[in-house]
Amino acid sequence: MYQSRIAGMGFYVPDRVVTNDDLAKMFNTSDEWIQKRTGIKERHYAAQNQGVADMSLVASLRCLEDAKVDANDIDLIVLASLSPDYCFPGSGCFLQDYLGIKPTPAMDVRTQCTGFLYSLATADQFIKTGMYKTVLVVGAENHSSGIEFADRGRAVTVLFGDGAGAVLLQRAEDKKDHLVLGHVLYAEGKHAKKLWCEYPASKITPRLTKEGLDEGRQYPILEGKTVFRHAVQRMPEVIIEILSKNGYTVEDMDLLIPHQANLRINEFAALKLKLPAEKMFNNIQRYGNTTAATLPICMVEARDAGLIKPGALICLAAFGSGFTWGASLIRW
Ligand code: ACO
Repeated sequence: MYQSRIAGMGFYVPDRVVTNDDLAKMFNTSDEWIQKRTGIKERHYAAQNQGVADMSLVASLRCLEDAKVDANDIDLIVLASLSPDYCFPGSGCFLQDYLGIKPTPAMDVRTQCTGFLYSLATADQFIKTGMYKTVLVVGAENHSSGIEFADRGRAVTVLFGDGAGAVLLQRAEDKKDHLVLGHVLYAEGKHAKKLWCEYPASKITPRLTKEGLDEGRQYPILEGKTVFRHAVQRMPEVIIEILSKNGYTVEDMDLLIPHQANLRINEFAALKLKLPAEKMFNNIQRYGNTTAATLPICMVEARDAGLIKPGALICLAAFGSGFTWGASLIRW
């Protein structure tokens, strides 16, 4: 079995910054409500016609530059998104084209907030078995084209932002740093409709109707309190599990990078783990919840801020729609 290492990382967020006050001009909300309940101050929105694959391209090129690897050396693209550009094919295929590389396998992963973790674990398996040496893992979202800027959708709309993040995973060969140690993944589909978006739905014909659109079935539905309750239980649970599976305890962890759905969820999780504030990285204040893009964006920012020291034990963890949740462990 081979081992994977993180050879490079990059991210991109669109230029347009939308503050809580900007949202308060569109529907009935306030900066105070949003910050108090979620910690979010602002988020970035994609420009018209700027899709997931467009944002992924910029993040990927930055990642490849960081890794000093040529795009043609990529053996596989794994792209996670709950907001792919089109019904099909997946945005991974568009990204393969935009990168201008030789025919290279490209697949999409649809596991929402844990999309990046599932993708990282998938890429890791391809490297472990020896099938591929270099895998580009991307998480990207365009939420702003699919949320409702009206009172009806306000509880969901304020939470989300757009962006993309990429990580290049490579066979470790003789290098002994930035190693991926393992993953723990879960899904519990009985809660699927507690955080979901129905339209377009192939289960019904036609896949969307005028009446359904008027009812707002094309927008995400969220049972906020239920998601919150499950998240604050599952996140600490899965973090402890991945640490113990690898022979570590919470005290051994140098940095926790949790999914950014709500700052309060992360604060609760840290409290349960008895984790000091300086051992957890958050940036939801500036980006909102960018779902599959969140973890790679956090990783780049944490590294660039000098928070990931050589040899550090880093835990990535996420919980979200599905419900799905999981964690990955990295030795920097
Ligand atoms: N601005 C002002 N008031 C609002 C807003 C808003 N944007 N949204 C809801 N309200 C009102 C409600 O109407 C309600 O009013 P009422 O008391 O008069 O009925 C009141 O605020 C409280 O609403 P709740 O929904 O009960 O608020 P809660 O404290 O649960 O906070 C929140 C809502 C922030 C969504 C929280 O439940 C949460 O963070 N849940 C988990 C986050 C989550 O699921 N994120 C998605 C992760 S998964 C993924 O990324 C795909």
